[in-house]
Amino acid sequence: MSDLATLQAELLAAIAAAQDLGALETVRVGALGKAGSVSALLKAMGGLTPDERRERGPAVNALRDAVQVALAERRATLEALALEAKLQAERLDLTLPPPPRHRGSLHPTLRVMDEMIAIFAELGFAVAEGPDIEDDFHNFTALNFPPKHPAREMHDTFFFAPDENGERKVLRTHTSPVQVRTMMTQAPPIRIIAPGRTYRCDSDQTHTPMFHQMEGLVIDRGIHMGHLKWTLDAFMSRFFEAEGVTTRFRPHHFPFTEPSAELDVQCDRSGGQIRIGRGTDWLEVVGCGMVHPNVLRNCGLDPEEWQGFAFGFGIDRLGMLKYGMPDLRDTFASDLRWLRHYGFSPFAALPPLTAMAG
Ligand code: PHE
Repeated sequence: MSDLATLQAELLAAIAAAQDLGALETVRVGALGKAGSVSALLKAMGGLTPDERRERGPAVNALRDAVQVALAERRATLEALALEAKLQAERLDLTLPPPPRHRGSLHPTLRVMDEMIAIFAELGFAVAEGPDIEDDFHNFTALNFPPKHPAREMHDTFFFAPDENGERKVLRTHTSPVQVRTMMTQAPPIRIIAPGRTYRCDSDQTHTPMFHQMEGLVIDRGIHMGHLKWTLDAFMSRFFEAEGVTTRFRPHHFPFTEPSAELDVQCDRSGGQIRIGRGTDWLEVVGCGMVHPNVLRNCGLDPEEWQGFAFGFGIDRLGMLKYGMPDLRDTFASDLRWLRHYGFSPFAALPPLTAMAG
């Protein structure tokens, strides 16, 4: 092998072996730099005879060209590798995580509560609350249940064991104690609703031991039954978003209202489904009446000056009617299939609130 061929083979091997741009530059300077091996060959041409130069010149030029081409190719390869490594190192995962699986839903009772609160809020009612564990005074006595009266048992009350003073706390049997708590702490005029859990020892298709009520209370001057009826009718038409919901007022008795009434909604319960606006069944959804003067007095209000009406909705029952659930007991059975079927997306908008019926 000639000296030129040996040098070319060495240089091309060194170029191929260069692992980064710095190493490649060292090889380039060693060959083509001022003191490089190829530069030295080119310089040495000056000392040759014209004949020698004619013969050796093209061979040295070819060597230089081959080295330059190999350097350029290796440089391009190393630059591409360096870029690839840099991109890998700086890689960002910009893909979105997979959409969340549909895990939970809003229980229809919560949904119905939200709908009710929205409608009553537009009518100017504020939300009030009271404890689930009540004392006898707020649950019964202040509400004009006579002492030792069977009405206390009538509510199928869950009693706690008597405390050291012999007092038996109860799981509140209705949301009406919130009326008492509100009247005793707020000056009239009052306009509140009080949604919450209530408890009675009872279970059948339309009763569960725990259920939800929404109390309503209005105290002002000159309040009468007409205000009560308008309020409930306006609520019903808004809540059911439908014409053709037939309701009826029935005279009734509650110790804490006088006169008292119940409001029923017409429905059809045949065929394992519940439908409103047809049929021969009635589902009682509201107890109501004018606040009894004794209750006003028990709460420190003068019945000559202040009057009011009150109502108590069965929230779960309204949900049964609106969303077609035939058996109240399923509502609290925590059956996932039922919850998936009747549950609501937490992001679902509430039904639009249009102008109130006049
Ligand atoms: N508290 C009554 C019940 O649970 C409902 C009601 C509330 C009736 C307010 C009249 C006034 O049945």
